[in-house]
Amino acid sequence: MTAFVIGLVQAKGGVGRSTVSTTLAAELARAHRVVLVDCDMPQGTALAWANLRRRLGRTERLTVETASGQRELTEKIHQHLHVADYIILDGPPRVGDLTKAILVLSDLALIPMGASAAELWATANLLLLIEEAREYRDVVGRIVWTRFRSQTRIAQELSEIAVSAIEFPALATTLGHRVAYAEALGQGRTAAELADEQARNEVAALVAEIEQLRR
Ligand SMILES: Nc1ncnc2c1ncn2[C@@H]1O[C@H](COP(=O)(O)OP(=O)(O)OP(=O)(O)O)[C@@H](O)[C@H]1O
Ligand SMILES: [Mg+2]
Repeated sequence: MTAFVIGLVQAKGGVGRSTVSTTLAAELARAHRVVLVDCDMPQGTALAWANLRRRLGRTERLTVETASGQRELTEKIHQHLHVADYIILDGPPRVGDLTKAILVLSDLALIPMGASAAELWATANLLLLIEEAREYRDVVGRIVWTRFRSQTRIAQELSEIAVSAIEFPALATTLGHRVAYAEALGQGRTAAELADEQARNEVAALVAEIEQLRR
């Protein structure tokens, strides 16, 4: 059995890559062997989160690695490919060599997107890169709506534009704009571990959807 590799990519910063990576890593680690690779060094958000989490005394099957370049990333993935069930790559906020490598090495590329035009435009650059990566690997792309406010007009409009402009679909699960996500990241936890029932429900739905995509 080889690990299912999930790359969190987006050209724009602050869209929620690290939030989705850390949430998926910890929640999948309840039932699976998970490796989380922080590919956004020296910022190291996922690494800092993991260090905080270790201090909480969590004992799940979660290993954390870092990768600063293409070669290091390839090595780390090969090291865990036949041992882990899921390998999650937290990407940098750039369309560069490392993001290209993440796409070529991933089974599933998750593209977090919030309801702003800037994020939609940033996604256009990524689409070209995903096309290129497909020459090497059959990578599946999925948008993940984050900070989603379904009631707002901009969210409605943007999701319509995204559906027509972007060839691959969004996950059915959307992550709302919730304080729990920001708090959890700063505490080494996941939003599902905080007292926010809506966050818990959407995180459970996200994990179930990812497990389903693996099959
Ligand atoms: N669904 C959400 N609701 C509320 N706040 C969120 C949500 N998702 C992310 N945030 C907050 O937005 C900020 C950026 O999120 P995050 O660090 O996950 O993004 P990133 O794409 O990894 O950013 P960077 O470019 O810094 O790596 C963080 O403070 C995070 O807590
Ligand atoms: Mg990040």
